[in-house]
Amino acid sequence: MSGVADKVVHWQKSHGRNSLPWQNTVDPYRVWLSEIMLQQTQVATVRDYFARFTRRLPTVADLAQASTDEVMGLWSGLGYYSRARNLHRCAQIVMQEHGGQFPRQAALLQTLPGIGRSTAAAIASLCFGERVAILDANVKRVLTRLLAFDGDLAQAAQERALWALAQDLVPGDNTDAKAMARYTQGMMDLGATICLARKPLCAQCPLEKDCHAHGLDRMEEFPVRTRKLKRSSQSLWLVWAQDADGAVWLQRRPAPGVWAGLYCLPVFNSETQLRDALPALAHKNLQPMATFIHVLTHKDLHIHPFYVRLAVGRRLNSIEGRWVAALDWPTLGLPAPVRKLLETLRPA
Ligand code: ADE
Repeated sequence: MSGVADKVVHWQKSHGRNSLPWQNTVDPYRVWLSEIMLQQTQVATVRDYFARFTRRLPTVADLAQASTDEVMGLWSGLGYYSRARNLHRCAQIVMQEHGGQFPRQAALLQTLPGIGRSTAAAIASLCFGERVAILDANVKRVLTRLLAFDGDLAQAAQERALWALAQDLVPGDNTDAKAMARYTQGMMDLGATICLARKPLCAQCPLEKDCHAHGLDRMEEFPVRTRKLKRSSQSLWLVWAQDADGAVWLQRRPAPGVWAGLYCLPVFNSETQLRDALPALAHKNLQPMATFIHVLTHKDLHIHPFYVRLAVGRRLNSIEGRWVAALDWPTLGLPAPVRKLLETLRPA
């Protein structure tokens, strides 16, 4: 199947995505940052975050020197905040241990915090033309269909086998760096725009004739993965205490746990605990607000917010945290549902 790589490269030139903000550069800082942002977030959302992040912190040296609060603030709303913490640590290691230059090989990149095997291969192939395969969720779909690979990807041995097949398919050793980068981007683009999880657009696919799943008309049966994500749910009670100047009482969330490191309204495990933590005077002013659900990968959070207005200068002695002025809280790293609550749902 040696023609497959050529077809992907050729297709990518005219039908792939070629003007995303992190393309047309071989700056590993920009490529790395975009790959981390794109791990769990849609391209449309990443565009704005990427622009803001690179404007404020244009180089890996700037990121390494930035404060945790600034990095978390720039990430705020993207979710999966361990990505931001790893990003910051990774930049510091690149500065301290690699002389400010990202390593050029996937095997070395993979030793850095937050960079897994596929992300390392993406950076090395897109920036340095290394002939290494990527295998993210989209590419797994493309390859398991192309090969009608029916091993269960929940099993490590099957996943390893697919990695080996992915590596067999990369362009040959006479390939230049540009073609290799195009191949990697092409595999991503096929997964994102053609080889869709449901109703793939096979008629537009350059690999239609090579695709074993298409030949069997069983596209949607791949990839095979038996282990289902075990989802759970958790209820949280939040108190939104505000004074007449618009300051909000915020606390830094402990690690580990939901929203570790972010600033948040005080969180409780029940309404009783929430009431017990407030000064007696505040009870009669406590207003329940509409409950809502915030969906995380493994968990549905059922959020029960309560609003309370307090006099300027009153402290919430039994609750850890501090008053943050109306002008300051929007710049902090806040969990997306908390930011939304504060921005849009202020009671009268
Ligand atoms: N998803 C992950 N990496 C990507 C990239 N470089 N371009 C578009 N989508 C992506």
